[in-house]
Amino acid sequence: MSPIIWRIEHFDEIDSTNTWLAQRALEGAPEGLVAVADFQSAGRGRLDRRWESPPGASLLCSILLRPNVAPDQLQLVVACVALAARAALVRLSGVRPALKWPNDLIVGDAKIAGLLAEIVAVDERLAVVVGIGVNLTHEGPANVVSTSVRAESGVTITPPALLDILLDELEARRASLDSSDGQATLRDEYQRALVTLGRLVRVERTNDVLVGLATSVDEFGQLIVVVNGEEVAVTVGDVVHVRVPEGEQS
Ligand code: BTN
Repeated sequence: MSPIIWRIEHFDEIDSTNTWLAQRALEGAPEGLVAVADFQSAGRGRLDRRWESPPGASLLCSILLRPNVAPDQLQLVVACVALAARAALVRLSGVRPALKWPNDLIVGDAKIAGLLAEIVAVDERLAVVVGIGVNLTHEGPANVVSTSVRAESGVTITPPALLDILLDELEARRASLDSSDGQATLRDEYQRALVTLGRLVRVERTNDVLVGLATSVDEFGQLIVVVNGEEVAVTVGDVVHVRVPEGEQS
C-alpha cells in the first residue's frame, strides 16, 4: 500500500475526538485523518462510560483507518493501534505497558491507556475510528486503578510528541491489516503482548460474571476463557485479572 498521509486536526477543546472523526468518516474523509484535542468535554470510554482528563494531561486522539478487514475483525485493528502506542511509549519513556484484553494498556495492574474503536461505515472497506487516551501526567479517574507515563518513568512527554511517534509506529504496522500473512503476524505480536493470557480472570458481562482461565484469543479477537472445563468465547466484557493468593498457586 502507498504511504499513509497523516492529516492532523488539532482542537483546544472538543466534545469527543471520536465523535468528530466519525462524522468526517461518514462524509468520506480519507484514511489518515487524525483528530487530537487538549481537552474533551464529553470524552467517551468503552461500554458508554465517560473518559475525563484535565487539559493537556493526556494524549486524546482518534485515527481514521480504512483497512481491508471484515467487521468481525475489528479487534485486530484495535490491536494494531494498541501495539503502536505501546512501541511509542517504549521509545519515548522506556515504559513498556502490557496489553489487557480487550482494549487497555497497563503497567502492573494499573491502566495507563485505553482505546475505543468504532466501525463507522462498511463499504468496499471498513471505516474505523480508533480513539486512544494515554495518561501522560494525569493518573486517570479515582475509581480505576490507573497510572501515568510520568508516574512510571519520571519522563514528561507532550501529547504532540507521543502522537508523532505513535503514527510512525502505526505506519510500520498498518499494511499488515490488509493481508492474511500480515494479520497473522499482528495477531502473534498481540498475543505476546497480552498479559491476560494464562491468567485467572473474572469477566463482567452485561448479564453475568464468568471466572476462569484465559487461554487464547481467537481469529475474531474474542477472549477464550475455560470455565469449569468448557471453553467460552467472550466478545464484550470487563476483565479483572484475579490474584491467586500465595499458597493456592499450582
Ligand atoms: C476506555 O478505556 O474505556 C477507552 C477510552 C478511550 C478514550 C479516547 S480519548 C480520545 C478518544 N475520544 C473519545 O471520546 N474517546 C477516545
